[in-house]
Amino acid sequence: MKVCRTVEEMRAAVAALRADGDRIALVPTMGALHAGHMALVARAGEVADHVTASLFVNPTQFENPEDLSAYPKTTDGDLAKFKSAGVAAVFMPNPDEVYPDGAETIVETTKLANMLHGKVRPGHFRGVTTVVCKLFNICQPNVALFGEKDYQQLQIIKRMVRDLFIPVEIIGVPTVREDDGLAMSSRNVRLTSEDRAAAVVLNQSLALAERMVADGTTAEDLRAAVTAHITAEPRATVKAVDITDASDLTEATGPITAPVALMISAQFGDILLIDQRVATP
Ligand code: PAF
Repeated sequence: MKVCRTVEEMRAAVAALRADGDRIALVPTMGALHAGHMALVARAGEVADHVTASLFVNPTQFENPEDLSAYPKTTDGDLAKFKSAGVAAVFMPNPDEVYPDGAETIVETTKLANMLHGKVRPGHFRGVTTVVCKLFNICQPNVALFGEKDYQQLQIIKRMVRDLFIPVEIIGVPTVREDDGLAMSSRNVRLTSEDRAAAVVLNQSLALAERMVADGTTAEDLRAAVTAHITAEPRATVKAVDITDASDLTEATGPITAPVALMISAQFGDILLIDQRVATP
């Protein structure tokens, strides 16, 4: 497995892999790999001849420096996991390589980035699209894979690729969960044991929502029921319960007659967790 620190090294590694016209997949990550990331790598291996990955904690998507410095770093373990999963090349740059002196260009989906979770974290999605666009230009994959847990991020990246005619196929991969249903996240290790136990309420509230949508309900009743369910857990502070059209993320209102995306976020201690489900009536 080649570990590339510079744009030049990564481009050379990818060019060598593509020599016979092979198809290349990219799994962008910020490290602290868990089973959710490894599911992306496994799926990448099914849709391409070679799997590449990036391991870069992107500073521009963190709105506050404490969150950036608290982000778990497990580089040696991450590289070992990539290697044993058969990843051919990893792009692992320093921030200056991605954001050299004088870098001023940003990429932003102006509407999608500033609604829903984007309101809670202003500037976050602009940082994501800017770095993902750079990663696509550097790593030049045919296909890239992202988790469905970050549902808004996935829709934003699809929109960016469509709007900018970026020749990369985007594949969303279903959320991987712990045995009790908590969505895997690099943030889970930072939860206290009490908050970790309480956080299961997120998946439970989504299961409740899924049943309500299947039985027939309105967006208003659904939002109220999910909010009440999470609020009944004293360790959880609800930050958002968004119910939107599954494809364009516009707010759903009235009776639910088409697939909706349910995106929830709640704070446990200092840790903000998100989860999502697409529910079909
Ligand atoms: O989902 C993530 O881990 C990050 O937002 C991504 C896509 C790697 C960009 O830094």
